[in-house]
Amino acid sequence: MYPLARPFLFALDAERAHGMALRGMDLAHSMGLSRLLTAPSAPFPTKLLGLTFPNPVGLAAGLDKNGDHIEALFALGFGFVEVGTVTPRAQAGNPAPRLFRVPEHRAIINRMGFNNLGVAALVKNVEALKTRPGILGINIGKNKDTPNDQAARDYLNCLERVYPLADYITVNISSPNTAGLRELQEEQQLRALVSTLREAQEKLAAQHRKRVPLLVKVSPDLSDEDIDAASRVLNDLGVDGVIATNTTVSRVAINQHRLAKEAGGLSGAPLLGRSTATLRRLRTRLPEAMPLIGVGGIMSGADAVAKTSAGAQLVQLYSGLIYRGPKLIGECVEAIRRRKEGRSSGMRTDHE
Ligand SMILES: Cc1cc2nc3c(=O)[nH]c(=O)nc-3n(C[C@H](O)[C@H](O)[C@H](O)COP(=O)(O)O)c2cc1C
Repeated sequence: MYPLARPFLFALDAERAHGMALRGMDLAHSMGLSRLLTAPSAPFPTKLLGLTFPNPVGLAAGLDKNGDHIEALFALGFGFVEVGTVTPRAQAGNPAPRLFRVPEHRAIINRMGFNNLGVAALVKNVEALKTRPGILGINIGKNKDTPNDQAARDYLNCLERVYPLADYITVNISSPNTAGLRELQEEQQLRALVSTLREAQEKLAAQHRKRVPLLVKVSPDLSDEDIDAASRVLNDLGVDGVIATNTTVSRVAINQHRLAKEAGGLSGAPLLGRSTATLRRLRTRLPEAMPLIGVGGIMSGADAVAKTSAGAQLVQLYSGLIYRGPKLIGECVEAIRRRKEGRSSGMRTDHE
């Protein structure tokens, strides 16, 4: 059904189309019609982070900032859904227009700026869930007007609030749309922030008698030296996993396009190479046992396999969902499954 809806949605302003698509998806779910949108794939349980993911393909953060659509999103066939980024206090984000499709490149530019209703609203939505058919990640950030030297307070505040409800928690320090946020990836700032959060995680684990994994989401714009330094810190401090990557500020791949000068993060097909290279380098710098989630530019099953070949155990989608619709989820699940079965039966594939 998505191929029928797409021309209509693409004729609208991108942010309006996003809103309409999410409302349409909720409606289909409430009527038990999600199967019209996609044929769910057979289960492909994947154990990671002490959790069993129904399949290794998830929704990346940013589509459902407030956790308003979780059940309908799971009904599309995602093995996990990451909601947020959420901040302690509600904030409006940047003025519109702030979301642009670049169809010639199957890309998106966004400068949403963490528009969200605040952590309390997200907590309320998650508490109200009737079913939870997959793994729920909650992605946390800081408010725009919180200076970096107080950022830890915002992350701590969110961490404490979402801890009892999340299956895993992502620390987002890589969005390009909050001024200065990505500086938190710099070695010393990263060490200070993550060690504070790791200490809090241990305390919360004892308090709630459950250990919720803490992951850090990184940018594709880190230099090799930055990746190496960040890997050292994340490994030293024992984070549970890394998500690579967020959007890029680079416009190299679309520099002739009329929208190339729009400020914000670029996602979709042009991000695949850079994002996968970041993932691959992280894989070589982090211990083999450290879980990695690959995200950035997955538009096909082959792209998802490129991420697992580069070292990811799980993948996430965002822009691909806009361009290809929900059938991309099953396509990625099946491609990863075929790759895994091929490997275990000793077959070689193109990606090796
Ligand atoms: C409109 C939009 C909003 C996003 N918002 C967030 C966000 O709030 N937090 C976050 O960690 N990533 C956010 N992202 C980044 C995605 O989660 C993902 O890392 C990135 O888009 C690369 O994946 P893709 O090429 O499959 O889209 C956003 C992406 C888009 C397109």
